[in-house]
Amino acid sequence: MAKTTTYKSKIPDANGIISYGAAENAVWRDLRQRQSALLPGRVCNAFLKGLDLLELPADRVPQLKEVNARLEEISGFGVAPVPALISPQRFFTLLAERKFPAATFIRRREDFDYLQEPDVFHEIFGHCPMLTLPTYADFLQGYGEAALRLDKSYLWMMQRLFWFTVEFGLIETEEGTRIYGAGIASSAGETPYAVESDKPERRLFDALTVFRTPYRIDIFQTVYYVIDSAQQLYDLVSKDLVPIMDEARRLGSLPPTFPPKDEAGAA
Ligand SMILES: [Fe+2]
Repeated sequence: MAKTTTYKSKIPDANGIISYGAAENAVWRDLRQRQSALLPGRVCNAFLKGLDLLELPADRVPQLKEVNARLEEISGFGVAPVPALISPQRFFTLLAERKFPAATFIRRREDFDYLQEPDVFHEIFGHCPMLTLPTYADFLQGYGEAALRLDKSYLWMMQRLFWFTVEFGLIETEEGTRIYGAGIASSAGETPYAVESDKPERRLFDALTVFRTPYRIDIFQTVYYVIDSAQQLYDLVSKDLVPIMDEARRLGSLPPTFPPKDEAGAA
């Protein structure tokens, strides 16, 4: 999370409505249009189907309230408006309650191509399509519950798991390797890069390795992990993670496959 944010979260009114101006609605329209054109053949079918089911408006920022209504009937999940920064405890509790924490501001035009912080486009367009898939929704709930059971000293490994799945995960399908992670699916640059570039490594998902893998939040990823199904993630968080985490801790983190921050230039 950028420490010097100039964005403020928008607070819903008494009816749960968040107000967006014409310029903000136009940013949504243009982001949605550009990203929708990039997704076919690159994201998994569950993502595309989820996007259809959500029926997101084309020319204005959707209200969390309307997204919630759709999600509720499809998978029983929801989104909860949150300020840019919430405690890990709050974050995991919301997921355990089947609510995805969502920032409500939308990026300004000058940040159209890249924004380090999650905005409402990332939250709704990036995350919500996969939340329509019941197994995936169950996984997220299970993830929140598992994190709440763990001692705080393990939570940085849960963050790595989230990063390499929910944000930057790939999935193997009959059509080929596809995107399901929201960090990729909401980025015009990383969407083609993640599945077509020969630069990043694509490793078969393995929890022990994921727990040992460092990442940077400000560059295209150098490593992606490829799952075979949402069920694989659900099964993982349904079991006791402590023995795997203890082993990851004993073995230590893998060497980074990315350059140190100060040598990476303007990433
Ligand atoms: Fe996210």
